[in-house]
Amino acid sequence: MDCNRLVVAMTGASGSSLALALLRQLRDLPDWETHFVLSHGAEVTIDYELPGQKPEFFALADQVYDNSNIGAAIASGSFPTAGMVVIPCSMKTAAGIHSGYSDSLILRAADVTLKEGRPLVLVPRETPLSPIHLRNLYELSMMGVAIVPPMMTFYSGPQTVDDMIRHLIGKVLDRLGIPADYRRWGG
Ligand SMILES: Cc1cc2nc3c(=O)[nH]c(=O)nc-3n(C[C@H](O)[C@H](O)[C@H](O)COP(=O)(O)O)c2cc1C
Repeated sequence: MDCNRLVVAMTGASGSSLALALLRQLRDLPDWETHFVLSHGAEVTIDYELPGQKPEFFALADQVYDNSNIGAAIASGSFPTAGMVVIPCSMKTAAGIHSGYSDSLILRAADVTLKEGRPLVLVPRETPLSPIHLRNLYELSMMGVAIVPPMMTFYSGPQTVDDMIRHLIGKVLDRLGIPADYRRWGG
């Protein structure tokens, strides 16, 4: 099914700038509709990492949902979407998706994305990673979930943190077949 709706979820791992960069790039693609939901933890990390910038997240999205609204459109498989990105993805949310413990809209939307066989991309952030984190991420990858951690990339010649973020967002968009403008190897 052709569908240009993307669910973008943000959780309480460090990396608010990653979600902001993704939303900004999607806003520049007029054919794409973003359905945005953030956890309480994400709000806390925005306050630490990008104080005062929360309204910009909401302004960039086409639809914003409350994470406690488990009856929202994106909680149902009958609402077509092209997939979902969790950026950044906390280890708690990764564990919730791994176990199917859908007690929030983010976890339910991820559960729906999996059960409908749609692309699910996680940008998990923690360091170092414990055996529990690694097991969950490994098993999620075996279920078809794309695990795209915000790894630093040097071969593309980044001059700024924004350059590294652009590269990461390009990798995320590639997994969804969405046009991405970043410096590819050999490109
Ligand atoms: C400033 C800040 C940074 C955090 N960074 C991380 C992180 O990088 N990875 C992680 O898994 N949890 C991190 N946490 C902890 C999560 O926010 C916490 O486990 C929270 O319950 C996650 O819930 P959520 O997945 O529903 O957002 C951080 C918390 C704060 C306040």
